Amino acid sequence: MNVNDTGAQSRAVETTDLTKKYGTLKAVDGLNLSINNSTIYGFLGPNGAGKTTTIKLLCGLLKPTSGQARVLNRDISSNGFEELIGYMPQETALYVNLTIGQNLQLYGELYDLDRDEIAKRKEELLELIDLVDWKDTRVEELSGGMKHRASLACSLIQEPKVLFLDEPTVGVDPDLRASFWDYFLGLMDQGTTLLITTHYMDEARNCDTIGMLDKGDLIAEGSYADHLEETGTDSLEDAFLKYTKGEDT
Ligand SMILES: Nc1ncnc2c1ncn2[C@@H]1O[C@H](COP(=O)(O)OP(=O)(O)OP(=O)(O)O)[C@@H](O)[C@H]1O
Ligand SMILES: [Mg+2]
Repeated sequence: MNVNDTGAQSRAVETTDLTKKYGTLKAVDGLNLSINNSTIYGFLGPNGAGKTTTIKLLCGLLKPTSGQARVLNRDISSNGFEELIGYMPQETALYVNLTIGQNLQLYGELYDLDRDEIAKRKEELLELIDLVDWKDTRVEELSGGMKHRASLACSLIQEPKVLFLDEPTVGVDPDLRASFWDYFLGLMDQGTTLLITTHYMDEARNCDTIGMLDKGDLIAEGSYADHLEETGTDSLEDAFLKYTKGEDT
């Protein structure tokens, strides 16, 4: 599962001292992140740790105050590789007075997919999110979890090489969460790199590497087993608390 190549080509994401300030607040504070191609990286951290801000920087939606970041070996300030990146925002970004099918259509057209390709992807993605029967329902009439599922489908329409998913399973019921994770693991096996934020510690076990973010910087990084060994705990929750509370490890 893990790609352990060390060459720059093998990195899907690489940041150097990446910093984003809002006034005096450092939302992202000198972050050095390195994510191998074809892996799942879990981004964990308390509310306000800087997870969403980091993702927005990596998607080119925010400009860094200082530092650099490369995604698929290209500087994030360069244009022309948007179709290689998928982004599911924490706040749903759907057109609420359009149906799920129309939203998927629109996203497909924004990425310049041809008509047959959009039709094929729509069908596959509606199956994935288990909303085939709801495809003609307007988004404003959906439950919160359903909206979230539709938002995930839209972020996947163009089969991106790197996927940034900001809390993709919030409000999603347990059965469907499990099938989302099967799908994420399948995407990774096909060569996609995923960066996923979550507050569900059990989900983080599926990640190759888990980065613990606090106050805009990584306080620990490693596999699930590494974190337990490092902190001498038997759950990620306890490991996380040890790191953040500065207890002896
Ligand atoms: N547009 C903004 N203007 C000012 N401060 C901001 C802005 N966006 C984010 N922040 C601040 O930056 C910090 C990091 O926020 P961010 O949304 O990245 O955290 P997060 O780790 O995603 O949290 P959560 O788990 O709640 O989603 C917070 O202190 C937040 O208040
Ligand atoms: Mg967030």
